[in-house]
Amino acid sequence: MSTKINILLLGGGGREHAFAWKLSQSPICGKLIIAPGNAGTALHGRNVALNPNDFAAVRQVVLEEQIHMVVVGPEDPLVNGIWDFFAGDPALASIPVIGPSKAGAQLEGSKAFAKAFMAEQGIPTAAYREFTASQLEAGLAYIAQHTLPVVLKADGLAAGKGVVICNTIPEAQEELRNMLGGKFGEASNRVVIEEFLKGIEFSVFVLTDGRSYKILPVAKDYKRIGEGDTGLNTGGMGAVSPPPFVTAELMQKVETRIIQPTIAGIQRRGIKYQGFIFIGLIEVGGEPFVIEYNCRMGDPETEVVLPRLDNDLVAVFQALVRGTLAGVGVKEATHAATTVMLVSGGYPGDYEKGKTISGLENVLGSLVFHAGTQQKGDAIVTNGGRVLAITTCAENFREALKVSLKNAARLDFENKYFRRDIGFDL
Ligand code: AMP
Ligand code: GLY
Repeated sequence: MSTKINILLLGGGGREHAFAWKLSQSPICGKLIIAPGNAGTALHGRNVALNPNDFAAVRQVVLEEQIHMVVVGPEDPLVNGIWDFFAGDPALASIPVIGPSKAGAQLEGSKAFAKAFMAEQGIPTAAYREFTASQLEAGLAYIAQHTLPVVLKADGLAAGKGVVICNTIPEAQEELRNMLGGKFGEASNRVVIEEFLKGIEFSVFVLTDGRSYKILPVAKDYKRIGEGDTGLNTGGMGAVSPPPFVTAELMQKVETRIIQPTIAGIQRRGIKYQGFIFIGLIEVGGEPFVIEYNCRMGDPETEVVLPRLDNDLVAVFQALVRGTLAGVGVKEATHAATTVMLVSGGYPGDYEKGKTISGLENVLGSLVFHAGTQQKGDAIVTNGGRVLAITTCAENFREALKVSLKNAARLDFENKYFRRDIGFDL
């Protein structure tokens, strides 16, 4: 048997391009197939047009292509149970899926589950209560006596739109009525109402087999569309790693108060977890609190985390599935990284696709990770709101930003937009 590992990578955004770039550098990476991928992932492997949530189609590709390992980028196949689908199929059971079981993915798939989990483990997070439609009156009364602002969260996955921060009681009560009335479909059948935490956010990534864990480079992303963190929330307009305010002292608190009890909770509940935990944190007066869990890597954080990871990622995944993760030393580069996302004008609202991208050959000193792009004949065209992530590694994030901005000017497509102030608050 070949010692090379054939990998199927699911997803098609900037995160998956960064994964494809990193995985393909491994001397033990065999065939790399990305599904569905984008014009950037095709530079590192072969794209296959399939929907990662169509498990029967994933099964067929895995068997036909003699895949040895499946790496899952986005959350929805995990929340839908792809890990359990593999574990329960005799033809697939020996093929590891990098990602948690359906039960583990509930940390992201259900905010109420995550809050109960944190409460049980004594993990610091905002105080909360949860309500269903039959408890509407109790929910309205709860809001009436709540401090402002108050945060309302749809329990389930809502494409990043399920969190609403309300500044008045009537606004929050109206929002609760809408959510429980089906604003986000089934995702808002249950609503978490929680205390607003004021502080600075950062993202911590942990790789775990449910027993051992390794902490990856820390990052901070910029979610708002406008400079100075104004306007609508997006999937992420840029990121830096490491954020300088995340000191060793703060990370020590994160590890003992949050990461260790999280792993202990996974064990206590008997959850199978073989993948990433992305912990969205907020620092309030020097203390870390959990805003949310995700069961995957972040986007665009991955575009700054992986360029700062000096390990062979295929070897790390192999250790994860063999139960030898404890022996892996994470090699974090000393350089910093900044990524700037070029987006389609109008995003996160309506925008047009299919615009020709020019200037890719003129980029100097940055890595360009494709997010929403597509090869159309000889041209590469836009195919999403977030189009290209321009990552630069440099001595510090400000120097890196300068180079990313120079390259942002060299790249073009109709109605291109980007933020020039990534890291402005650091
Ligand atoms: P999410 O969609 O879960 O990533 O949440 C979106 C954003 O809402 C987070 O990144 C925070 O900026 C904000 N947020 C969520 N919960 C809270 C909270 N309890 N206090 C303050 N901000 C919050
Ligand atoms: N950048 C935040 C996320 O991936 O959810």
